[in-house]
Amino acid sequence: MADFVGAVDQGTTSTRFMVFDHRGNEVTRHQLEHEQIMPNPGWVEHNPVEIWERTSSVLQTAMNKKRLGPTDLAALGITNQRETTVVWNKRTGRPYYNAIVWQDTRTDKIAAALDRDERGEVIRRKAGLPPATYFSGGKIQWILENVEGVREAAEKGDALFGTTDSWLLWNLTGGPRGGVHITDVTNASRTMLMNLETLQWDDELLEIFGIPRQMLPEIRPSSDPTFYGETLENGPLGCCIPLAAALGDQQAAMVGQVCLEAGEAKNTYGTGNFLLLNTGEELVRSENGLLTTVCYQFGDAKPIYALEGSIAVTGSAVQWLRDQLGIISGASQSESLARQVEDNGGIYFVPAFSGLFAPYWRSDARGAIVGLSRYNTNAHLARATLEAICYQSRDVADAMEKDSGVKLEVLKVDGGVTANDLCMQIQADVLGVPVSRPVVAETTALGAAYAAGLATGFWKNPEELRQNWNESKRWTPEWNDEQREHGYRGWQKAVERTLDWVEV
Ligand code: G3P
Repeated sequence: MADFVGAVDQGTTSTRFMVFDHRGNEVTRHQLEHEQIMPNPGWVEHNPVEIWERTSSVLQTAMNKKRLGPTDLAALGITNQRETTVVWNKRTGRPYYNAIVWQDTRTDKIAAALDRDERGEVIRRKAGLPPATYFSGGKIQWILENVEGVREAAEKGDALFGTTDSWLLWNLTGGPRGGVHITDVTNASRTMLMNLETLQWDDELLEIFGIPRQMLPEIRPSSDPTFYGETLENGPLGCCIPLAAALGDQQAAMVGQVCLEAGEAKNTYGTGNFLLLNTGEELVRSENGLLTTVCYQFGDAKPIYALEGSIAVTGSAVQWLRDQLGIISGASQSESLARQVEDNGGIYFVPAFSGLFAPYWRSDARGAIVGLSRYNTNAHLARATLEAICYQSRDVADAMEKDSGVKLEVLKVDGGVTANDLCMQIQADVLGVPVSRPVVAETTALGAAYAAGLATGFWKNPEELRQNWNESKRWTPEWNDEQREHGYRGWQKAVERTLDWVEV
């Protein structure tokens, strides 16, 4: 039996491939970035061909680093940036247009129109999502309406839609020569097109966006013992590794953090933040601005649902300090700069660059730095940026408590920003609960590997996964209640200032 399981993590800024052993320890990895294409304000695109090429090379390079061959891998899982929309020609394999990324706001008019009439309610009830630029439905509609020849091709069955999981699965299994056209329930639950109860594409939702059913992939469980397909002899890994799992990256992080019981939650700190709470077999409908989403489905078991608070801009606000303002030279410097001051010096930074996601869902919001006086320095701005990451997480944690009645006792965290010690301390202070990070911080890739390994029997049951989880660091709150509430009131006032901005 093979000793390892592999996972591709196709993220917003990069693609990585990682291999894990039975204890969940990393064996090898390789990672490559891809270009962020921003042709107009608010537009964000990726080149799908570049993503496939990067994926092929990270697969080969990571395997070569440890001289591994296909027989060393028991299974392969895929996890991916969710919602990002690719439409391609099934005969040539060529995309009709760049991938439209989840952060892209070009469909704001489509979303606003849906929200104004009863169609918005239909989407909320059936898909569990508010009409927003974030999800795939409007992005597919935009491509059908704006790229020549796509609607005709879609009606003939020649144009295929997929999120990047589908795009990679199709390419890994042969592309135009017989590639499978498949997605999993978690990715499908982010399109505004899947009915959360039946786990199938819904005709009424397809009608709202004018999307021909034949362009959509088959929806399968996130971990599938019947496999989606196998890698090919002439592909980047060689023959014949079972492709046994696919999950959206935030759902994969839930599996990697072993949040497999109702009431368990994690917060991932990447370009954005995504706080998810496992609600078990119960489909909880949010009344406080959260999303209802599929957490995972293992084989033919019932699906497990989650409530999700998605925040568009957190780690990318730190990147903005580096790339656009030039006040730091690298992400880690945000911590040393922020440590030069005791507090935020009275300023708050609301990085509403893509509008505000959960719990506000206001595409008309734009970023603001408020409370400035001549006293303030770059250090206060760095500190306010870290605080913004934490206050946005407080917004969604509060909404989650209201929706579910579950009070967080500890927050499990993962993702790049968790290397920032100060930020994690502020998070514990702002929430008033301890924050805990596991030893294996790459929970997204690990979760996809777990899902693939469960499908093939490499791991027998969730209990085995639980034994692999170990804490590496814990931050406990240091602020008193008064400090906490005072700080949060300031944040809420700052958020109010950012709303209605595009109407001015
Ligand atoms: O919903 C968007 C999310 O899946 C993106 O995650 O880690 O690629 O920024 P990430």
